[in-house]
Amino acid sequence: MPATVAVIGTGYVGLTTGAYLAHLGHTVICADVVADKVDQLNRGEVPILEAGLEDLVSEGLSSGRLSFVLGAANAVAGAEFVFLCVPTPQGEDGSADLSYVRHAAGEIAAGLAPECIVINKSTVPVGSTRVVEEALGRDDVFVVSNPEFLREGSAVHDCLHPERIVIGSDDQAAAMRVAELFEALRAPLVITDPASAETIKYASNAFLATKVSFVNALANVCEAVGADVREVVLGMGHDPRIGFEFLKPGPGWGGSCFPKDTRAMVHIAEDAGYDFNLLRGVIAVNDEQYERMADKVERMVGTSLEGCEVAAWGLTFKARTDDLRDSPAIEVIRRLRERGARVRAYDPTVDPHAAAEDPRLGDIELGADAYAVAAGAQVVVVLTEWDELRWLDYAKVAGSMAEPRIVDTRNLLDAPALRRLGFTYTGLGRDG
Ligand code: UDX
Repeated sequence: MPATVAVIGTGYVGLTTGAYLAHLGHTVICADVVADKVDQLNRGEVPILEAGLEDLVSEGLSSGRLSFVLGAANAVAGAEFVFLCVPTPQGEDGSADLSYVRHAAGEIAAGLAPECIVINKSTVPVGSTRVVEEALGRDDVFVVSNPEFLREGSAVHDCLHPERIVIGSDDQAAAMRVAELFEALRAPLVITDPASAETIKYASNAFLATKVSFVNALANVCEAVGADVREVVLGMGHDPRIGFEFLKPGPGWGGSCFPKDTRAMVHIAEDAGYDFNLLRGVIAVNDEQYERMADKVERMVGTSLEGCEVAAWGLTFKARTDDLRDSPAIEVIRRLRERGARVRAYDPTVDPHAAAEDPRLGDIELGADAYAVAAGAQVVVVLTEWDELRWLDYAKVAGSMAEPRIVDTRNLLDAPALRRLGFTYTGLGRDG
């Protein structure tokens, strides 16, 4: 049954949720606090790089089922369901900052229709369903938790083909009403209590971060004993209890979720009287990884990095997104520069002119393409697994560099082919 839905917040989660719910046949009004963004979205312009999202938004706008308004209060009148998709940034002590959630709840409280269901999609600490209930101060509406598991870069696909839908509610009938919204997706349903639903989101991200830190630590061991981490992962992954996913070594995990959610989980445990030292170890391995990548570059060069010309390929926290939040690439570049290197960087999604204003990039020098930044460099370091980097003319790259050397922190490139062209090449967790 098509429903009337409001979505508060048009970030990655809110915008994708609004667009795919409209695609499923519901009538959706999305609200944001930034007037320019609302205008832009009403024109069908999507401000983030996300495969398929612009098409989904255009489809929603032309069907009349999707629209964007300024201010949460203007979206909720008559809505049967209200999704809260506002940010939950990391507070100073590592805990999640709920001020946006509280503020949004306060803003919509008076305008909610009786029997309306408010759905928390933001990643919120255990107990936040109660926080929203209190901020709303309404006993004729329901608050339900419905964590989102989409990945940036495949957000639309993940929303339309979810592995599971988790709904946390003390009211079975409210949970079933929410489940009906997603009926067309035919995904496995986990209906549980709010605290368990909220914990599932943190636990999932913490577990995935643990896998990546494990494989990054394993890569160090492989290098030391002469094993190849890719072969080791292949041999492990055939065991279905382990699997192949999320076992690619890299420069560390980053992005808008893992760093903040792992720290929040440690904090949640601490507040509950448990020292989650396993997860603290996972975070520590990740923090060390940036330094290890800088060490690798220094080893490749063979001398101090003072005055060394380094070309960095990739700035985003992973490929297929333009998101620079908590990007390991930027962390590694910062460390290279602290060691005196002169770094020039290239990323296919970062416009060198527009980027001058971006505080996350600081004064990192940017080039127009991979060739331009490699020219004259003593070493190239691959930091993001952009597919286009596989298909460069490497004879041209080698010819333009001061020394043809590549540190490939993503194991992206074809090592034997590069060696044949005269490169000194090193990847992660394998020989050389
Ligand atoms: C993650 C979760 O996957 C998603 O379910 C949740 O909703 C939000 O957080 P996302 O932040 O988009 O999604 O990125 P993801 O693809 O999970 O990658 C996270 C980080 O781990 C990236 O920096 C990525 O490069 C790194 N990673 C991932 C690896 O280094 N190796 C891997 O094998 C997998």
